Amino acid sequence: MKSKRVYNFNAGPAALPLTALQKAQAELLDFNGTGMSVMELSHRSKEYEAVHNRAIELLRELLAIPAGYEVLFLQGGASLQFAMVPLNFLPAGAKAGYVMTGVWAEKAYAEAERLGEVFVAASAKAGNYRSIPAVDKLQYDADTAYLHITSNNTIFGTAWQNFPDTGVVPLIADMSSDILSKPFDVSKFALIYAGAQKNLGPSGVTVVIIRRDLLEKANQKVPTMLRYGTFAKDNSLYNTPPTFSIYMIKLMLEWVKEQGGAAALYQQNQRKAALIYDAIDASNGFYLGHAQPDARSLMNITFRLANEALENKFLDTAKKLGFVGLAGHRSVGGCRASAYNAVPYESCQALRELMLSFHRENA
Ligand SMILES: Cc1ncc(COP(=O)(O)O)c(C=O)c1O
Repeated sequence: MKSKRVYNFNAGPAALPLTALQKAQAELLDFNGTGMSVMELSHRSKEYEAVHNRAIELLRELLAIPAGYEVLFLQGGASLQFAMVPLNFLPAGAKAGYVMTGVWAEKAYAEAERLGEVFVAASAKAGNYRSIPAVDKLQYDADTAYLHITSNNTIFGTAWQNFPDTGVVPLIADMSSDILSKPFDVSKFALIYAGAQKNLGPSGVTVVIIRRDLLEKANQKVPTMLRYGTFAKDNSLYNTPPTFSIYMIKLMLEWVKEQGGAAALYQQNQRKAALIYDAIDASNGFYLGHAQPDARSLMNITFRLANEALENKFLDTAKKLGFVGLAGHRSVGGCRASAYNAVPYESCQALRELMLSFHRENA
């Protein structure tokens, strides 16, 4: 049966590759001749362990993760990382720096502030988070416990175009909404975390990439389930991991590999985003992009129309034509198209056509 697929621009959970979903469907009742679904396998079975290890291996390969880093599967979402990072790496007497680039950065900062001393290394708040601070304007001392950034700001639609070199200060990044959307140098970072539900797979699992020398400095007094070391020591099998979510990550990463990896996705993501940004830029102000052009995200494209009534009309029209997820985040309003890795080019083309025709009819 051929099912109807919408143009899915959800901010997360978000679109998954059709082939990955079809593979999951085909294997749902009998995974690899086991007579069980992946969901019914013991997490201690060799069949599950093969899935688990393959997902890690694919992450290592596709993100070009150097030796000396652990790849972990955690739960609690990226939001738990807001607390786990300072719990493990912000000892008494030290200070951690945060770069404020949006709502998620604010949440990470607020959580760390409950646990230790923090400071703002730079902030784009005064400009309503339309920009990203210049990497050479970040203010922190060499004894900073770590510097935290949010690589892509899901709500405001901005992204770092290049990452700072922080030298001896460990650089920690929330990459929830753009991991694997383009090649980048993992070795600049001491810790990277990302909720899977945008670019890596379904919700329920958070990928953490952590350098071993940082891991060794972690606070040992933290409860077991909140220590990175617990998961590193047991290959993320200390307790029951979210097995089905990890299986879906594996399927999605196999798809990424077939596409040609991060470099090929980057090309495609640039082409996809350009379809929509060009529609904004060529509209003579009918559509107003939120992000400054030099800070634009390829993943979350945010724009407004002249007033809320027109925005609602646009969103209603889109809905009737099979578009999903185009309303902006509830905290900022407007419109947002999330064009993550698995969102097809055709969906972006369809959105562009809708934007052009809606403009013609409502100018
Ligand atoms: C950049 C960023 N960080 C953190 C989060 C929170 O993620 P979670 O819901 O997995 O806790 C989100 C969710 O959209 C996000 O976009």
